[in-house]
Amino acid sequence: MSVRWSTIFPNKPTLTEKNLPDQSGKVFLIPGASGGLSKEIASILYQKNGKIYMAARSRSKTNDPIDSSTGNMIFLSLVLDDLTTIKASASEFLAQESRLDVLYNNAGVMVPPQGSKTVQGYELQIGVNNLAPFLFTNMDYHEEGIWSKYSRSKAGNVLHAVEYARRTIGEGIISIALNPGNFVTNLQQNMPRMQLAVFKIISHAPKNGAYTQLFASHSPTVTEKDNGCWVSPFGKVEPARKDLLDTVLSKQYWEWAEEQINKYK
Ligand SMILES: NC(=O)c1ccc[n+]([C@@H]2O[C@H](COP(=O)([O-])OP(=O)(O)OC[C@H]3O[C@@H](n4cnc5c(N)ncnc54)[C@H](OP(=O)(O)O)[C@@H]3O)[C@@H](O)[C@H]2O)c1
Repeated sequence: MSVRWSTIFPNKPTLTEKNLPDQSGKVFLIPGASGGLSKEIASILYQKNGKIYMAARSRSKTNDPIDSSTGNMIFLSLVLDDLTTIKASASEFLAQESRLDVLYNNAGVMVPPQGSKTVQGYELQIGVNNLAPFLFTNMDYHEEGIWSKYSRSKAGNVLHAVEYARRTIGEGIISIALNPGNFVTNLQQNMPRMQLAVFKIISHAPKNGAYTQLFASHSPTVTEKDNGCWVSPFGKVEPARKDLLDTVLSKQYWEWAEEQINKYK
């Protein structure tokens, strides 16, 4: 896994809860809203009166509304380690909404115990971080290191974002992959102690991860010209890694993922 300078020395966030304009009338769909960065961005958008679909597997963990908002927080059941459940979640959303301003595909797991699998038997990270969000958006592993598997699932996210951008040119959709930064959240629950101690030195307050996402979703400087770009922490457009811009690779990966999800559509 290569590390960019911006991961260690993040850029200053340009968009925060202080300068984000009112979000009344906008609809946001936030998988992973029960914790971490998703909860942070949900809280900011809600403060700004947005309508937020808190997509999570646990209703009780998403209840955190504040009074001073005219926004709305609505629970949406979303279980990402079982592909058979995704269609129903998407249908439930579509039954309630005809617009969607931003989908934050942000739920995820990292370095679970080796051998962890989804209900369909996919390695947990490729299933939860990549295949299930791919299915949600679209309505033979050898025993390699668990970090490699995490990196693979995340590289897959970039390939999907870039390929989605290519496939939707001119449709008014902007598809972006991002690195939010480093934050101690529930994500590190399986990280070995020594690694976690080092990670803590280079991590920041989780709200900054929301700032990275806010930049990607709301910055007036991010326009269709940036479709398929990559955003570094805490909000700067950078070209995606060269190998992840390979058109043949992203097409192949898209088609492989499509084969995996087709039977659940
Ligand atoms: N934190 C960092 O330093 C960092 C750095 C780079 C990238 N990221 C990326 O940022 C994203 C968010 O990370 P985070 O730090 O916010 O992690 P987090 O605090 O662990 O939150 C992850 C969220 O994903 C949900 N989730 C996990 N498995 C699920 C499943 N099977 N079905 C439904 N929901 C599930 C969790 O729900 P439960 O509460 O139900 O478990 C939780 O709400 C991830 O994609 C991660 O790879 C994070």
